[in-house]
Amino acid sequence: MDELRRGPALKRLGCEFHYFAEIDSTNTYARQLAEAGAREGEIVIAEAQTQGRGRLGRRWQSPPFANLYFSVILRPQLAPMQAPQITLTAAVALAETVASFIAQPVTIKWPNDILVDGRKLAGILTEASCDSNKVNFVILGIGVNLNYRVATMPEEIRAHATSMAELTGSSIHRESFLRRLIQGLDRCYGELDEFGFAGLAPRWEAHFGLRDKRVRVELLDQIVTGRALGIDEDGALLIEDDRGTRQRVLAGDVIPVES
Ligand code: BTN
Repeated sequence: MDELRRGPALKRLGCEFHYFAEIDSTNTYARQLAEAGAREGEIVIAEAQTQGRGRLGRRWQSPPFANLYFSVILRPQLAPMQAPQITLTAAVALAETVASFIAQPVTIKWPNDILVDGRKLAGILTEASCDSNKVNFVILGIGVNLNYRVATMPEEIRAHATSMAELTGSSIHRESFLRRLIQGLDRCYGELDEFGFAGLAPRWEAHFGLRDKRVRVELLDQIVTGRALGIDEDGALLIEDDRGTRQRVLAGDVIPVES
């Protein structure tokens, strides 16, 4: 972890690192720490996860010593309905960090996928604990495929996933990547805390791959098809549906469809 202490001092994140060679899920452990009163900025990081979790109950492939798997405990001053801003803020930091390593365009697939060449490179899983009017804590979990080779990925993700090593043709120094990412997260989270999401929104939109594209969103009880417009100040996805009505989508899977 000494590598992480190099460069500009971290203001909000990284007050303590909990390091594991193997864990079930860094998000699960971080939640236990948060429930026991852990401070904002504590980070749980593991070399491998046996029960790595993705959104919507999916599994996150977490083989040892190849990639990054970590979770940050945050205690933001946000109302519960603003909690999705944490995911979007993390996506800005993640997209900008990846873009600082590669020449290819980096896109964000709302709300939390980082894609390059249409393949998934990284994902964010935020899990919040809220009271009726305040957020108690948010667990920000991030997985980045760094030195994972497509040839060794399980069949089910091979056609849709990529890694930094695949994109650059060489292996990535994990601590250097992690340091840059945590510094970016620290800055972006500080901006969110001090100035709100408005200043970060244009940076999120700069990486939004689906603006003006036709999309289908699968919600719990309905499917919305229409044109993706962008996000609002709370981080909801705005869609103009096929009847011309503007819809706010707070959660769901967004899939591009042929026009
Ligand atoms: C997704 O794209 O569906 C989100 C993937 C999030 C994976 C990370 S890896 C570290 C943290 N621990 C987990 O169990 N999941 C997140």
